[in-house]
Amino acid sequence: MKTKIAIFALAVIMFAAFSFKLAEYAHKAGAFKYVGATTCAGSCHKSDSQGKQLDIWQGSKHSQAFKTLQTPEADKIAKDKGFTTAAAETPQCLKCHTIGKEIDPAELESTFSKEDGVQCETCHGPGSEYKKLSIMKDKEKAKENGLIIHNEKEAFCTTCHNSESPSFKGFNYEEMWAKIVHKKP
Ligand code: HEC
Ligand code: HEC
Ligand code: HEC
Repeated sequence: MKTKIAIFALAVIMFAAFSFKLAEYAHKAGAFKYVGATTCAGSCHKSDSQGKQLDIWQGSKHSQAFKTLQTPEADKIAKDKGFTTAAAETPQCLKCHTIGKEIDPAELESTFSKEDGVQCETCHGPGSEYKKLSIMKDKEKAKENGLIIHNEKEAFCTTCHNSESPSFKGFNYEEMWAKIVHKKP
């Protein structure tokens, strides 16, 4: 009798542990949401002592990348390529000029704005979980929670800076990184 109870108890514990693991995987698989550049810069990534990432990004062309698609020049490029929609509504243009890929609106927080173009989370991953200070402070934990760290920086840049871009004129990594360099102080 005792062994039966023990086996039953063990089964319950194992099932609970398994369900917990599953929930954790489900969470990791798709629950990270894009929160938008204003959230990233809300209280962090803003001041001199924090590294002024917000100012640097706002002063860069990345922050204008969506607005660029709203110009007549962009519409002409789209038309010449055979697209029938305005550039700012053409997924094949948006993929490099906003967050890098078509995403499900369910993956966006209301604070996210595509108008902000190529933004913090385009490059660093959706921040809904890693934005918490307790997680952000610990790089490993932040990575588990959606933060993307780039070791192959040039290869990452050229996922957009390549000849698939209608206006591509070449990409010099050192020169281009120098124009947007931002780091932890
Ligand atoms: C998701 C796509 C994407 C990624 C990834 C990306 N960029 Fe860009 N980048 C763009 C787009 C789009 C523009 C053009 C924006 C515009 O002019 O409106 C741009 C423009 C720039 C410019 C301005 C060019 C100029 O003439 O002044 C620099 C500098 C730049 N990127 C550097 C980088 C670097 C360095 C990396 C990698 C760390 C990188 N980019 C990664 C999409 C991307
Ligand atoms: C075009 C892509 C791109 C954009 C846009 C961008 N970053 Fe970065 N960022 C990088 C790369 C590449 C690095 C250096 C390698 C790394 O840490 O991933 C970096 C480094 C950083 C670092 C230093 C990380 C460390 O541990 O040293 C911080 C903090 C940061 N970015 C915050 C931001 C914030 C906040 C924004 C928006 C206001 C932003 N970034 C926009 C690509 C980008
Ligand atoms: C593979 C990524 C990618 C795709 C796809 C893409 N762009 Fe871009 N776009 C860029 C980058 C990167 C730049 C910065 C200039 C460069 O190096 O190509 C840029 C710059 C621009 C510019 C500014 C022109 C200039 O000389 O700087 C316009 C306008 C533009 N793109 C329109 C479009 C339109 C319209 C589409 C869709 C038909 C499109 N782009 C698709 C990556 C892309």
